[in-house]
Amino acid sequence: MRILLSDGSGLTSRQVASQAAAAGHQVDVVAPTRIGLAGFSRDVRRVHRVPPLGRDPYGWLEATLAVLERHRHDVLLPTQEQVAVLAREAASIRALGVGLAVPSFASLARVQDKVAQAKTLAALGLPHPRTTIAPSVEELLENVSPPAFLKAPIGTASSGVVHVTDRGQIAAATERLEREGAFEDGGVVVQAPASGPLVMVQAVFMRGRLLAWHANERVREGLNGGASSKRSVALPAVGEDLQRLGEHLEWHGAIALDAVLDDGVPTYIDINPRLVEPGNAWAAGVDLVDTMLKISTGDSVDAQPPGASGIRTHQLLSAVLAAAQRKRHARRSVALELALAIAGAGPYRDSTEELTPLWPDAVGALPLGAVAAVGLAMPQATASLAGNGVAAYALTAHAWRLVANQERPATVAV
Ligand SMILES: Nc1ncnc2c1ncn2[C@@H]1O[C@H](COP(=O)(O)OP(=O)(O)O)[C@@H](O)[C@H]1O
Ligand SMILES: [Mg+2]
Repeated sequence: MRILLSDGSGLTSRQVASQAAAAGHQVDVVAPTRIGLAGFSRDVRRVHRVPPLGRDPYGWLEATLAVLERHRHDVLLPTQEQVAVLAREAASIRALGVGLAVPSFASLARVQDKVAQAKTLAALGLPHPRTTIAPSVEELLENVSPPAFLKAPIGTASSGVVHVTDRGQIAAATERLEREGAFEDGGVVVQAPASGPLVMVQAVFMRGRLLAWHANERVREGLNGGASSKRSVALPAVGEDLQRLGEHLEWHGAIALDAVLDDGVPTYIDINPRLVEPGNAWAAGVDLVDTMLKISTGDSVDAQPPGASGIRTHQLLSAVLAAAQRKRHARRSVALELALAIAGAGPYRDSTEELTPLWPDAVGALPLGAVAAVGLAMPQATASLAGNGVAAYALTAHAWRLVANQERPATVAV
């Protein structure tokens, strides 16, 4: 099949491209830049340039529709936050005869922003940390006591989620959140910290029926709260929770949840309405990408059995970027990370790289080579390498408002 991925910069796209290519599919991506992770993968045939989603979601959509019309892909697979505009305007994609697995916009809106997420978790009685919504600056400053997590409805680069541990930090974070308009989009979510390992859950549904799912623990934190090392875990309770969530929302397509394992009980802290990093599931025997493709084209598909537990995977690229961002001894941390990876020691022992192929592929190794070189020479400069990726796919509060109100700007940016 010919598949178009909605993003070319993120780790998820890079992983999805590898899985789809390994299954014999042809993979293209749309992206604002050719200098993204997917552009350096031999698994991606072509990068089609489109405007960035965050600035111009309808410009992004128009350009993507034009690519689909010209190149006749069989499936458009949302691999990043473009899923919001795709769920809103799914009919225009499907009208081209292109397969697309997304939930209805009403369902998506129940989990897209963090205020809606909190309400959905509470309404379904799914375990979550104590959560309140602060509708104004005054109420936040008056009623919230540290420690807490403060979350803007739609994250921004500088103040999406903030962990505050004293009153001074609450004041500073509140000022930033207000400046970035967080209180205009339904209020700020205030959540009690949950303690325990973080678990990342990925699932695929067909019209409310759970077809495939997987859970892995974040063994090592990578860049921006991601995982540079993961280990698959068996959590039957999560399967039951997913069934309830999917049935209630009549979910169609992929969804991902973050949970903290509090005394072994999964406590949900975040929901993403899309496929997130399917590599650990794949290594454990659960093919989330294949299930997504089958749902997209309307092929018949059976529910998949759970994967193996204890399967370890890693992303060296994410580990190197995280090491480079350390406040102290960043250069030494980058060097140590590379040495461990080359030796297959420490976190790399008995662990599979999720961003394969890495070494045998000269083009595929370029991003890691660049990050390693910059990380060793000027560790702090790697922040802009990582930041460019996020800017390429992030749904901004501005874009979310345009999509929610179906506001097509009068002139389409090119
Ligand atoms: N209530 C919480 N308890 C403990 N850790 C949390 C909590 N909320 C968020 N975190 C931490 O902050 C990270 C980012 O928060 P999250 O809500 O997942 O937002 P996002 O992924 O949109 O940035 C999480 O991966 C987790 O490490
Ligand atoms: Mg999260």
